Amino acid sequence: MTSSGIPVPTVSAARLRRDLEHVAGYGATASGGVSRTSFSEADRQVRAWLVNECEQAGLALRTDGIGNVFIRLEARDAAAGTPPVWAGSHLDSVPEGGRFDGALGSLAALEVVRRLAEEDVPLRRPVEAVVFADEEGSYHHLLGSTAVAHGFTADELARLRGRDGDLLVDALEGMGWDPAAATRTAVRPGDVHAYVELHIEQGSVLESAGAGIGVVTAIVGMGGGHIEFRGRQDHAGTTPMPRRRDALRGAGDLLVRLPEAARSVSETAVATCGILHVEPGGANVVPGLARVQLDFRDSDRTRILQLEEAIVSAARDVADCHGLEMSYTRESITDPVPLNPRMQELVATAAADQGMKTLNLPSGAGHDAQNVARLAPTGMIFVPSVDGRSHSPAELTTWEDVEAGANVLLATVLALATE
Ligand code: GLV
Ligand code: MN
Ligand code: MN
Repeated sequence: MTSSGIPVPTVSAARLRRDLEHVAGYGATASGGVSRTSFSEADRQVRAWLVNECEQAGLALRTDGIGNVFIRLEARDAAAGTPPVWAGSHLDSVPEGGRFDGALGSLAALEVVRRLAEEDVPLRRPVEAVVFADEEGSYHHLLGSTAVAHGFTADELARLRGRDGDLLVDALEGMGWDPAAATRTAVRPGDVHAYVELHIEQGSVLESAGAGIGVVTAIVGMGGGHIEFRGRQDHAGTTPMPRRRDALRGAGDLLVRLPEAARSVSETAVATCGILHVEPGGANVVPGLARVQLDFRDSDRTRILQLEEAIVSAARDVADCHGLEMSYTRESITDPVPLNPRMQELVATAAADQGMKTLNLPSGAGHDAQNVARLAPTGMIFVPSVDGRSHSPAELTTWEDVEAGANVLLATVLALATE
């Protein structure tokens, strides 16, 4: 029962599993993972599937200018304009990612909306399942939720490029959308009653503790940027080693120094280069340019800025050592956030009501929830990741944990929509 005496329905575990398995087919890779990067053909296909599912279920679906999807269930007992409860996540993946990151929270939110509709539960607030665009940051860290929480100007949008150097505005046009509409996505604080996101933990804390549900206390902050080293392009056979100004050697030297840069800031700071671009890219050519794409994180904003400075300072030193020029471009800083204590309580209560063992923990992964937390009270529910694996085809969560997490999501959304 909710506090207002309404029986809490449960999700259809079989339907949720069917949806997760089906959606894993969009962008499925030979390794058993998923490559469904934002605005790709696979992304287009999963969006079309979602539209069709909602049509079948009689649910209204709307897509905003940047590609965020809102699936709405009206409340019988709500005055017009009552702010909705949001639940959601994302359906894009990293290249060669897993089947659960984002898909779990998105499809569980869809299932929650379907169950509330089927049971014709008397709600006092509308509920919207939200699927955020480009959470994985092909074009910008947490693109869709940043567009909702902060908004983008046309100039900012025009500068954003994807991993392959393509322009975001071209990608939006390629999806059949008007890029001008992407400047009109911001939502005002107060326009959303609350937001809840179910997600796999992507680490091994819950598994180690034997807890089935994680109550997320805070989300890490993320910095993104790139360092470019410029040297001199030369012949690989005729240029003696001491005379080279090899841009890639500088990049390699910087990568070796990243652990020390992170350690100098805190025990939990992390820095990663997952994309390295080398020009001109010939096996027999000394590289003239190397671009190091960086992701750096900490739970404290000041320390993120210190980490950025430590990396840039190491890069300056490296450039001096190898006779290179270097430049740094910051792309974004997404602040860490604590999650709302009352939302943590609601999640913990919903889990305890279902007999689940819970554990409070912070998230080392970024989530759209950290942007939405600027707009509305926000909570996150984690379920265990087998062996802590994520951003890999090895990502796995048991169907039992999927069902438990989805039921905790349903109960939390219902508590919020009936208060
Ligand atoms: C999202 O998965 C992130 O942490 O980058
Ligand atoms: Mn995710
Ligand atoms: Mn992810």
